[in-house]
Amino acid sequence: MNPSPEEIRIGLIGFGTVGQGVGQYLQERADALTRAAGRRLVLGGVAVRDLSRRRTVDLPPGLLTADPWKLVRDPGLPLLCELAGGTEDPRAWTAEALRLGKTVVTANKALLCDHGEELFALAHEHGGRILFEASVAGGIPVIEVLRDSLAANRVERILGILNGTSNYILTRMEQDGLSFGEVLESARANGFVEADESLDLDGWDAAHKTVLLAWLTQGRWVSTGSMTVEGIRRVRLDDLRYAREMGYRIKLIGAVERVGTAGRLALSVRPSLVPLDTLLADVDGVFNAVRIDADLAGPLDLIGRGAGQDPTASAVLADLVAAARQWESSTPLPVHLAPPDPPELAAPAEQEHAAYLRLTVVDRSGVLSEVAGSLSRAGISIASVLQREHGGHDRATLVLLTHRCTQAALDEAVRALAADESVGDDFLVCPILD
Ligand code: HSE
Repeated sequence: MNPSPEEIRIGLIGFGTVGQGVGQYLQERADALTRAAGRRLVLGGVAVRDLSRRRTVDLPPGLLTADPWKLVRDPGLPLLCELAGGTEDPRAWTAEALRLGKTVVTANKALLCDHGEELFALAHEHGGRILFEASVAGGIPVIEVLRDSLAANRVERILGILNGTSNYILTRMEQDGLSFGEVLESARANGFVEADESLDLDGWDAAHKTVLLAWLTQGRWVSTGSMTVEGIRRVRLDDLRYAREMGYRIKLIGAVERVGTAGRLALSVRPSLVPLDTLLADVDGVFNAVRIDADLAGPLDLIGRGAGQDPTASAVLADLVAAARQWESSTPLPVHLAPPDPPELAAPAEQEHAAYLRLTVVDRSGVLSEVAGSLSRAGISIASVLQREHGGHDRATLVLLTHRCTQAALDEAVRALAADESVGDDFLVCPILD
């Protein structure tokens, strides 16, 4: 590989929505990108699944191939851009490219979440790099901010609205007075929901991004299996209304927090009550937001488009430019100030917050005291209770706010309530963020 090339040739795997955006702007904005990168960024090959498919972006002839491995192994393509999606094939391509000392730019959060530890170790071993700005919050340059701009800081907490589809659904429910199911139908019709709906609706996409933010700032890979991950399926229109009456909005929040006196690490994705007077509460529709509490810079809020062709292509192009600028540097990326001894994971008994509980209960005498008893036995103190008529026969809705309690106590109370025939499974539990 020429150590100081005039141009850097890119192998692009995946030419879907984002890939075509990257291809388009690499051509249309070639001069500006050359000025930014200090050398030309040239598309040297594009791997697609189906060669015969019509595409909106014209490429120079001969660039397309159906064989990604051709690009991975071509020594004339030292920069690999992986935008194919999935995890197992991208893992193999990325690992091989890194073994060959290549730089890899990826938007693939699931890949990094599942195999990041192995892939970053490979990059380190072989002098390659992985850049992943597009994998978290699309057009918001949060990785660069955390990795570079806040390099001198300790990051105490990150709260993120990291899944645009969930935020769109919650916003439309609230603004248009619609149920979760009604908005989901229209989100599907508009193509806003991932083919694997669970990624959006059950919190997994936000969890992948949360894991990456935790690794970047705290130096520990946390498996999604050891964090609380809950999506928005349980949130009802009434919850959004009750929350607002009490001075909050409900947002799906990915949280990275240092908790307790030992500063242990807690990760979660949950519908959460966010105070109305915070910027996070004002982030609507498909927008994403990341709140960073940094010890030197102080609190920082980043808001922008977390998905879509242009915002995501913008992030990928930023990485391609960054890679080209630093081509001769031997400093491994990412460099971050994560402590050499990463924090231990916090146990549920170490995580504390006030909580919102909405229960749908049988409307008969004694039920309120049963609910209060379950909370009290778990050591939870109730701050306020609201009872509302429920649309269904013989049912009532109870909304309780608790004082600060541990996650362990809350888990215990929820288990008891779910097993109580008067309560059943129709409930929502949310932390209240301060
Ligand atoms: N489905 C994702 C979202 C796309 O809604 O944010 C970006 O990961």
